[in-house]
Amino acid sequence: MHIVITGANRGIGKELATLYTAQGHDVTQTSRTPREGFSVLDVDDPASHAAFADGLNGKPIDLLIANAGVNFDKGQTLETGYPLEDWSQTFLTNVSGVFLNIQSLLPNLRAASSPKIAIISSQLASSTNSGVGMLVYRASKAAVLNLGRNLAQEFADEGMPVGIYHPGWVQTDMGGANAAIDTLSSATGLIQRFDHLTMANSGVYEDYKGDALPY
Ligand SMILES: NC(=O)c1ccc[n+]([C@@H]2O[C@H](COP(=O)([O-])OP(=O)(O)OC[C@H]3O[C@@H](n4cnc5c(N)ncnc54)[C@H](OP(=O)(O)O)[C@@H]3O)[C@@H](O)[C@H]2O)c1
Repeated sequence: MHIVITGANRGIGKELATLYTAQGHDVTQTSRTPREGFSVLDVDDPASHAAFADGLNGKPIDLLIANAGVNFDKGQTLETGYPLEDWSQTFLTNVSGVFLNIQSLLPNLRAASSPKIAIISSQLASSTNSGVGMLVYRASKAAVLNLGRNLAQEFADEGMPVGIYHPGWVQTDMGGANAAIDTLSSATGLIQRFDHLTMANSGVYEDYKGDALPY
């Protein structure tokens, strides 16, 4: 498979790239800044999406993993926190960035025989399991869950499944050192979930272990 992974220079994306490469897959890993072995993609920037798509030169994509994401919410208080720029930046990266990523790579996805799209959201996207804190991040992940569910409908007729995933609470820069699992456990589980993604479960929202999450 040719697999594209956004935000693959650290954290969960990096582990996914490592595992898929070890399995012998052809991995295009992206980074928002230039670095050896990576294609540049800043998901906030439409011109960067266009340049990245151009660079692929029509190469089919079997699996697109929209992994890049941000969370600026730690330590924010309801009374004085959550400034407008955090809302704008978080939605740009976590929601619009995912849409532009998928839109710009549509020709490459459509050129593959059985393409799939995996969106890394979060369990914090759930409106059923609402909670306190991280209000901007929760809203952005809920929005990208909604986007993924709608894209599953958009692509239903052409047989391109879309899955939306919670990677677990993972020891990364975002998850912190006290998180529950390491990147290897998360990425190993996610790869199994992506393997199970078909038109029969397109629109699925589940965690890295395969446990369904409530919308
Ligand atoms: N860790 C957790 O516990 C957890 C839980 C639930 C969901 N998630 C989700 O899992 C995904 C990966 O998280 P992680 O824990 O691996 O986070 P991380 O270690 O903070 O890595 C985030 C990655 O996203 C990239 N990124 C951020 N903004 C970008 C942009 N504008 N353009 C391109 N790349 C950009 C970062 O690139 P730079 O190095 O350039 O910043 C980095 O490669 C995210 O979508 C996150 O929301 C994580």
